[in-house]
Order: sequence, then structure tokens, then C-alpha cells
Amino acid sequence: MDQAGPQALNESGYKTYPEPDRGPDPEAEWAEPVVQLRDVNKHFGDLHVLKDINLTVHKGEVVVVIGPSGSGKSTLCRTINRLEPIDSGTILIQGKELPQEGKELARLRAEVGMVFQAFNLFAHMSILDNVTLGPRKAKKVPRDKAEAEALELLDRVGIKDQAGKLPAQLSGGQQQRAAIARALAMHPALMLFDEPTSALDPEMINEVLDVMVALAKDGMTMMVITHEMGFARRAADRVLFMADGLILEEGTPEDFFTSPTTDRAKDFLAKILHH
Ligand SMILES: Nc1ncnc2c1ncn2[C@@H]1O[C@H](COP(=O)(O)OP(=O)(O)OP(=O)(O)O)[C@@H](O)[C@H]1O
Ligand SMILES: [Mg+2]
Repeated sequence: MDQAGPQALNESGYKTYPEPDRGPDPEAEWAEPVVQLRDVNKHFGDLHVLKDINLTVHKGEVVVVIGPSGSGKSTLCRTINRLEPIDSGTILIQGKELPQEGKELARLRAEVGMVFQAFNLFAHMSILDNVTLGPRKAKKVPRDKAEAEALELLDRVGIKDQAGKLPAQLSGGQQQRAAIARALAMHPALMLFDEPTSALDPEMINEVLDVMVALAKDGMTMMVITHEMGFARRAADRVLFMADGLILEEGTPEDFFTSPTTDRAKDFLAKILHH
């Protein structure tokens, strides 16, 4: 399928958003949807955290989610692989509805790689073993094959020389890159990132963002919660602004950052830009 839309680069090297003149079907030039949320609602007790969320992420698309604390960004991410159950609505991964439980849920979950703020590596296992564990246990990949691929992935994220170390022997940035390699080892159809750089010292943020930008350029489908506007401008096809459980605005990074339409988004941008 033609992926020219989301993959094209403009003069500044940023991906360009598909132009609106794409014929009668505005989605026609996108590759197939990887994730679809339809009328998704979620409550925590009385708190309505996700309100009729409708969202499609297409193959090769990079969607950045921003918004104030408590707006529901992490919950949105967590519903996508049913770490959080939803109250109503539908979630489809590669066209298949997420079941409540069972083998099919495990299979669909494996299509979604997650990288969190805290790296969540197994402390008593080497970096190499952290990366090979999923493929070996869940996919029954033989150890030598899993290790060869893990080393390639560690090379890709720039820490091949750290493979034999324990997580605690690595810097925060290196641990987060190991967590990215671990997620990639499962060959996910989609990578979800929930504030992957917010626990890092400033000098380590860019080394992680650079890996993410490279992934985006390689065509990985990604949904990224981050307040790193530089990343959004460099890599995002689309920015979603969430507030109070709603997607209030969505658009290209250029449009959103230069001309937000709602007061909530204007206030929010003013705050983070003056930070
Ligand atoms: N397990 C839970 N039980 C009860 N309330 C929860 C739970 N998880 C989240 N919430 C509440 O749901 C709302 C949305 O939380 P969520 O973590 O999705 O926000 P967020 O946009 O990711 O915020 P932040 O930017 O601070 O990470 C918040 O009010 C939060 O307190
Ligand atoms: Mg959050």
C-alpha cells in the first residue's frame, strides 16, 4: 500500500501530514489501521477518565499525545492493551477486537510494545537476558537466535557493549534504550511510549529521543505521550491534545503548536513553553 502520505519529508526534514485533497475517502492513502478506538469510555469510580474517545492510528503513523496532568493520557495508553479494562466502546488491534482474556488477548497484547517512564527492566538479569526473555518464553525462539537478534537491537539503540551488564550498572538513558530494545524484540505492530524521558537527567533525554526519532523514520507505528515538543516537531505526524478525558484538538505539529484553537490548549502550551 502507498505510504507516501505519512512518510514524506518536507524541506526541514519533518514528516509531512497528508494533504486534504485525497479524493472521496480521506483515509485512502494511509496504510491499514493498527489501532482503532471507538466510543471508548472509562471511569474510575465517579471520575469519567475517558469520554467517548475515537482514535485511529495507522501503520507507520507517529501520534504524540500531550495534555495536562490527570487528563487521561496514561489511561488511554493502558486501555490499548487492556492493562485497564474499559466500560464501553471497542478497541481493535489490526482490525481484531481485543477480547477480555485468553490466548487471543495475549497474542494481541504482544503486538503492542510498551515503554514507560520507569524502565521496568528485571534487576537480576543481564541486559541481554532482559531483551531475549520475551521472544524465548512467549514466542519459543531458540536462545542463540534470540541472542543474535537482541544484540542487533542493542546495537540499533547504541548499547551493544552493555549487553552483559545488569540494569543497575547502566545510566538511566541506557536503561531506557534497553527497555526500547526489549519491546522491539517482540516485533510489535505498535509501540506505546508513556513519558519515556521524564525520569531522565537532561543530558540523557536526547539519546533516548534520538532512538525514538530513528524508529519513527524507519516506519514504526508509534503513540507517544511526551511533553518534548522538539520530538513532536521532528517526528510526529499528528499531535493529540487531551484535557478532562477528551481529545480536544488534533492536528499536525505545525498547526497545533503555532495555532491551537481552544483556550485549554493555549493555556497549556503557554505553561510548558515558559517552563
Ligand atoms: N487506578 C486508578 N484508580 C483511580 N483513579 C485513577 C487510576 N489511575 C488513574 N486515575 C485517575 O484518572 C485520571 C487520569 O489519570 P492518567 O494517569 O490517565 O492521567 P495522565 O494524563 O496520564 O496524567 P499525568 O500527566 O500526570 O501522567 C487522574 O485523575 C487519575 O488520578
Ligand atoms: Mg500519565
